Amino acid sequence: MVFVTKNSLRKIFIMILPILKYGSHILRKHSIAVTKEDNRIQISENLFDTIKKDGACGLAAPQVGILKRAFVIDTSPLFDESKGFEKYEQFFINPEILWQSPEEVYFKEGCLSIPDIYEDVLRADKIRIRYSDINFNTIDEEFEGIKARIFQHEYDHLEGILFIDRLSRLRRKFLTSKLDKIKNTKNIKSWIKNILFKRLNFLTSG
Ligand code: CO
Repeated sequence: MVFVTKNSLRKIFIMILPILKYGSHILRKHSIAVTKEDNRIQISENLFDTIKKDGACGLAAPQVGILKRAFVIDTSPLFDESKGFEKYEQFFINPEILWQSPEEVYFKEGCLSIPDIYEDVLRADKIRIRYSDINFNTIDEEFEGIKARIFQHEYDHLEGILFIDRLSRLRRKFLTSKLDKIKNTKNIKSWIKNILFKRLNFLTSG
């Protein structure tokens, strides 16, 4: 006999979406506002399920092909009391950055859409933000450190900006071959998928 808890239900309906990789034009688009008609629960669960599988600490809706202004932060992979990283989880709807501190800091960033590339990125240390939660309550907060870092990275995704855009021209040039490889791997994958799809169509129609 197994009790049906929220967790076991979640496991049955777990929804892991494929993550778009560097080279996809969707990642370069400007996302539109989430409205009350959008299925916020589904977007939130999709993002949290996908992020948990990959052990990342932030994921934006456009990275899974949903061009809506929403993202999740989940700092559990970083959780380490000795380093002062607190556990924090939130689903952000229509986020805004109201203020950025003039003090900027470097921190090594990575992105699920740009696998195996980690670079120091300069960003504001503190930010004042406004967003809506899943129930459309408006929340004003101040973030600093790692939370401010992840928020700014994910916010960029909603504007079609990737962290590599914030590197120096020289650094980007240095990464060209790695980036081209990601782009080409993605192309080969979609090429194989196309061939298989055509073959399947041929088999079912023939
Ligand atoms: Co990213």
